[in-house]
Amino acid sequence: MKSDIFILAIESSCDDTSAAVLKNKTVLSNVIATQKIHEEYGGVVPELASRAHQQNIVPVVKSAMDKSGIALHQLSGIAFTRGPGLLGSLLVGTSFAKGLSINLGIPLIEVNHMKAHILSHLIDNNNYDQEVEFPMLCLTVSGGHTQLVVVSSPYDFKVVGETIDDAAGEAFDKIAKTIGLPYPGGPLIDKLAKEGNPKAFKFPISVVKDLDYSFSGLKTSVLYFLQKEVNKNPHFIEENKADLCASVQYTIIQTLLKKLKMAIEMHQPKSIALAGGVSANSELRTTITELGKELGIPALIPAFEYCTDNAAMIGISGYFNYLNKDFSDLSVTASARLAV
Ligand code: KG4
Ligand code: ZN
Repeated sequence: MKSDIFILAIESSCDDTSAAVLKNKTVLSNVIATQKIHEEYGGVVPELASRAHQQNIVPVVKSAMDKSGIALHQLSGIAFTRGPGLLGSLLVGTSFAKGLSINLGIPLIEVNHMKAHILSHLIDNNNYDQEVEFPMLCLTVSGGHTQLVVVSSPYDFKVVGETIDDAAGEAFDKIAKTIGLPYPGGPLIDKLAKEGNPKAFKFPISVVKDLDYSFSGLKTSVLYFLQKEVNKNPHFIEENKADLCASVQYTIIQTLLKKLKMAIEMHQPKSIALAGGVSANSELRTTITELGKELGIPALIPAFEYCTDNAAMIGISGYFNYLNKDFSDLSVTASARLAV
């Protein structure tokens, strides 16, 4: 009989400290401590993030272990996010994982954060009742990345398109800031857009080569538009907040959709998927679900808890690396820039 694999996973790449325990592909616990401290600065402050990870990591890991009902001596391996992300933040998780791996005498497993967002679809207790079919075309949209990735197996990823400037989440957050919304603005735009008209204001969809994206032009165009309107009417933003949010969200989603459709034509995937923090966006989820129905292929939309940064996705990646005996030695270092 095959014995069960228990992975403790740690995620500390940005401003969420998270730990999860998985039994094979099933998540037993997934604890996330979100750092509120950054809200007052309107964005993530790296030094504060690193310090908060140091304070949070022990209680978060303890809580994940307690909730899982698994004892430390039962663990098969420790998975951690090696990168990409903020170096000071990554170092906390990396050092902690190394320490625990030495202490328990079990393998250390490095995980790529962007691959992990994609592999969250393979978690058993995700939304789906069917097996994921490969090749899967995944649109990964987060605060730091926007990528179209053809995934042929849990070990085979090919980036076929990506942003040449801002990420989609960054566009949501930066535009939210110009509208006067606090950080992170993405979820707030989503909420306010529900009351607004997506066609109220027309913003341009960027023209970029092949399957690449660009969002910096949209940010500038919204900024200039608002400056002009506020000159005429100082209350313009307040009076049109919901319509502005709906129109900005509509433009970002149409931009994402245009290249996704092109990529489907070119790569003929058996399934399409959304991953990363922006996949929590309700309108984007509906749009991609409808696209799947229209094309007659499964559209995989992750459960909310696996959209934004979480350690469960590091755990499922760690599980597949464990099966492959893809272990790291103690010389492994955190890496702020790590390609898919
Ligand atoms: O994947 P993630 O948690 O962290 C990174 O690795 O970047 O993504 C965070 C991003 C932020 O930009 C946040 O505004 C965006 O995801 N986000 C959303 C929503 N929820 C989170 N954007 C739009 N609508 C949402 N509901
Ligand atoms: Zn992320």
